[in-house]
Amino acid sequence: MKSNLQIARSAYQPKLPKALKGPVAAKEGEPTQSVGNQKEIQAQFPNTYGMPVIEFVESQSMPKEPVNVGVILSGGQAPGGHNVISGLFDGIKSINPQSRLFGFILGPGGFVNHNYMELTDSIIDEYRNTGGFDIIGSGRTKLEKDEQFEKGYEILKKLNISALVIIGGDDSNTNACVLAEYYASHNYGVQVIGCPKTIDGDLKNEQIETSFGFDTACKTYSELIGNIQRDCNSARKYWHFIKLMGRSASHIALECALQCQPNICLISEEVEAKAMSLDDVVEYIAKAVVTRSEDGNDFGTVLIPEGLIEFIPAIKKLISELNDILAKDEAKAINRDAQIDFVKTHLSKENLEVFNSLPTDVASQLALDRDPHGNVQVSLIETEKLLSRMVAVKLAHWKNEGIYKGKFATQHHFFGYEGRCAAPSNYDADYCYSLGYNASRLIAVGKTGYMSIIKNTTEPASEWVAGGVPITMMMNMERRNATMKPVIRKALVELDGAPFKFFNEHRDEWARKTDYVYPGPIQYFGPTEVCDQPTITLKLEHVK
Ligand code: FBP
Repeated sequence: MKSNLQIARSAYQPKLPKALKGPVAAKEGEPTQSVGNQKEIQAQFPNTYGMPVIEFVESQSMPKEPVNVGVILSGGQAPGGHNVISGLFDGIKSINPQSRLFGFILGPGGFVNHNYMELTDSIIDEYRNTGGFDIIGSGRTKLEKDEQFEKGYEILKKLNISALVIIGGDDSNTNACVLAEYYASHNYGVQVIGCPKTIDGDLKNEQIETSFGFDTACKTYSELIGNIQRDCNSARKYWHFIKLMGRSASHIALECALQCQPNICLISEEVEAKAMSLDDVVEYIAKAVVTRSEDGNDFGTVLIPEGLIEFIPAIKKLISELNDILAKDEAKAINRDAQIDFVKTHLSKENLEVFNSLPTDVASQLALDRDPHGNVQVSLIETEKLLSRMVAVKLAHWKNEGIYKGKFATQHHFFGYEGRCAAPSNYDADYCYSLGYNASRLIAVGKTGYMSIIKNTTEPASEWVAGGVPITMMMNMERRNATMKPVIRKALVELDGAPFKFFNEHRDEWARKTDYVYPGPIQYFGPTEVCDQPTITLKLEHVK
């Protein structure tokens, strides 16, 4: 059974850039370089390095042969994934109605294990403009070994698939690039195309304006934060500590702060740049609590990016050493319970002190669980509770010293999963459909190792610019699991960028006063100024 909104929404026809409405030709730019470590990246990607950025322009004709395409959803869910797939489906059918689309089930694992389904008209129609990745499911299997590439190739051959679209974040697109290179070097005749997905907003650069899903997720969290702020300003008795997803980058927290004007928003990248200790962060919050209390306001909101803990310099050093220790075969061989003792005996004296100073739950989270890409699972660390506990302790001291006289009662929230599968906003619905449709054009013109890109998205969709960027262009070498690996460079919040600068100019006022903004729920039908606005981050980044 479908909700009324779902029924109404299924009739929405996403907008496409003008250039994609008919046949296209690829206008090629200059050869490209990777963003760092050019020699090493070139050596590892001899077949896919240096290709030009391309832009699609209208043309009289285009190749019309039918093509069989495979698609994989990789990593965390992000609103709009279904529209990438429906755009891709419509795109390959527009090239030739005999083209076919196969979805691999539950992420890269489905590709390796030959678990797939054909996506037909009726299936696609069920999922147009809906949130979620449930059409084929997603997963975090890391595609990195030749055996996996070969297993995947077997099923591609069997289904006569000559192009594979991987919809994923920085890690998944890094793997897409390795796969593209592998297939190119073996002359397998399989194109690999990436699409920039992640609510975290950290897959962006000069070529990629934003990753899809960021828009809808931030708007969903901002609605919830706005509601909490109304509640907070009505009861006037709680400080709300709100942790927001986003992994290492603070883009989500920053965007929500720009939308809601909370009293405090921590930005991990700033904490690192100022070399703040955990105690400095606690003191910063506690001071704001005292100031508001002096004005009679014993309530407020604090936004916390989930990756904060990794950016406190002492903890960052600790994590880096833990990663190296955990990568040892010896560590992998022992059971979970013994691992904590193992790391403790291998940590340097300095890092061991930091480790022992952390609450046990936080310390074991840092020491144990990693996702398949080697990332600390920051969404599992309850930073919001850790900080509020520490602020309470500090305020209690200050009370004893007569510095603080107020009341400090807290509530905790973690917003992450609430926003990852929301029905895509008009922006994400259009952007994702265009990314998928555009991927079909990259396939038609024979590209591999490219990411589908749509630019100029602060303008109306008809003015959007479609094209492709070589994935190698975004790469540099980074240390992963104790060895240097080629990876897409993650985009963190830039402290000299327009969004942070705007926040910085206003935050003291927002901290003292109660200047809350209540964005309300995403609107799908109605006036453009309510329904079709991109994020404030994107607008500030693209002020002309
Ligand atoms: P991606 O990087 O795969 O897009 O994942 C985004 C994310 O939602 C992060 O914000 C969060 O830390 C992580 O996934 C949670 O992972 P899981 O879904 O495995 O719990």
